[in-house]
Amino acid sequence: MIKVLGIGGGAREHSLAEKVAQSAHHPKIYWISEWRNPGIYEICRSTGGEYIIGSTTDPLFVSKRSKTLGVDLVIIGPEEPNFYGVADAVRDAGIPCLGPYRDVAVIEQSKAALRRLQWKYDIPGRLLFRTFRDVRSAKEALNEASKSLTWLQNVVLKPARQAGGKGVKVIEDKQAYLLNEKLTFKMSHIEWLSDYMSGYEDIQDRVLAEECVWGPEYTLHCFTDGKTVVGMPLVQDNKHAFDFDIGPETGGMGSISGPGMALDFITREEYERSLEIVRSVIRAIQDETGKDYIGVAAGQMMVTEIEGPTLIEMYSRLGDPEALNVLAVLKTDILDLAFAICEGRLSKVGVDFEKNAVVVKAVAPEGYPDRKDLAKGHEVLVDRDEVLKRGCKLYWGAAHLEDGRIVTTGSRFVELVAKERSVERAAELVNGCLGLPRLKGWRTLYRVDIGTRELNERRTELAEKVRRLYKFRESRGLLGSRLDWVPGMGLIDPALEVKKYEVDRT
Ligand code: GLY
Repeated sequence: MIKVLGIGGGAREHSLAEKVAQSAHHPKIYWISEWRNPGIYEICRSTGGEYIIGSTTDPLFVSKRSKTLGVDLVIIGPEEPNFYGVADAVRDAGIPCLGPYRDVAVIEQSKAALRRLQWKYDIPGRLLFRTFRDVRSAKEALNEASKSLTWLQNVVLKPARQAGGKGVKVIEDKQAYLLNEKLTFKMSHIEWLSDYMSGYEDIQDRVLAEECVWGPEYTLHCFTDGKTVVGMPLVQDNKHAFDFDIGPETGGMGSISGPGMALDFITREEYERSLEIVRSVIRAIQDETGKDYIGVAAGQMMVTEIEGPTLIEMYSRLGDPEALNVLAVLKTDILDLAFAICEGRLSKVGVDFEKNAVVVKAVAPEGYPDRKDLAKGHEVLVDRDEVLKRGCKLYWGAAHLEDGRIVTTGSRFVELVAKERSVERAAELVNGCLGLPRLKGWRTLYRVDIGTRELNERRTELAEKVRRLYKFRESRGLLGSRLDWVPGMGLIDPALEVKKYEVDRT
């Protein structure tokens, strides 16, 4: 009998565990996570496996446990184990692992390294950027920029490392009025970023400044064994906490996909271009490191007027909640797929997806994402039979099972999924269940608008506007070019500045 060990305790991992349990190989399932996810726990027990509470980022602990359990395959869910080299240790122990080597996972771990790679290898869909290793140099550069007219005025400021999806601030600064106020805000955000990054010493860059772009966003996940890259259906995640795309950024409050491989507002041609961008990043990081990329890589993309399909960030794993979209329609046996990837024969496996649309919505305790202290420790009450009766499935996320009670651990505790012929129909089903997961004496947070006709139309309008502009540029041979007119200096090409500060120095 095949034994599989999974890593990570969220809704993404619950959905992965379910997919593994559905395999025709009828595996025994083991799992390691920092808390006891009720759904995964149930799956482990029903297959005769075991649920282990322990560190998911300790390579030695995971590889030793894999050895003593005698597992045939390890599947890594979240990103942090990738950054700590868990896949490296498991492979060193002679066990196949669906998860990337630490060196190649840098495409997610360091947003700065990803940008440098993209510029060094001339991969399209790239943004102007500058990195800073300390608060002083970041402040000096942005202060200087405020006195002249450069792209650095109108920026997105981010932590230079993947840090739980937080800390991204868009500061548009095209007008002369409010210049000082915006500069003050930039300075205080740089301080905030520096504090936020102080917990992460594994990369040197602290702050990333990128040019500001607008457009519809989407995620393209790919399976890869390092030689073949297979794209999955596009997914759109919705990061803001509240309806109408307002409120703080979260890990994702809900996601839509289908029907089919693209989204209603993304064309097949844009899908293909996005796939080529992700393929190029995988090739480039393999050239840089000499290591194969084994597992899942995903491009977080945006269609922009300057570049068309543009790479915003990369994941070295499935997104959460996006994983639930793609796994809901994956037809190929996940273990056949995983072994083919680990053995470098992905090109020999047909990877098939159903054509259905999928909507996923997260339910979180009020307080998430900014006050996790308030969001944790609440008992969860939910009628799971009623969820099923209403046409949805429930996956457990940040919820811990102890002595028969399930309590929140501070984040999205449940994700609800519906699969239907259209996104709107699936969204109606999920909306019919959003009130079912409740917390004893505490309120829940969720988004009603995701997947509705109103929001989908807004996404389509934005996509059409941006598409007209990038197509216009393209028809004039100007796709990707950015020339600024600076008084006293004439025409300048900001790409030269990026090369000088970031690419030629490495
Ligand atoms: N949905 C965002 C993430 O997985 O990072």
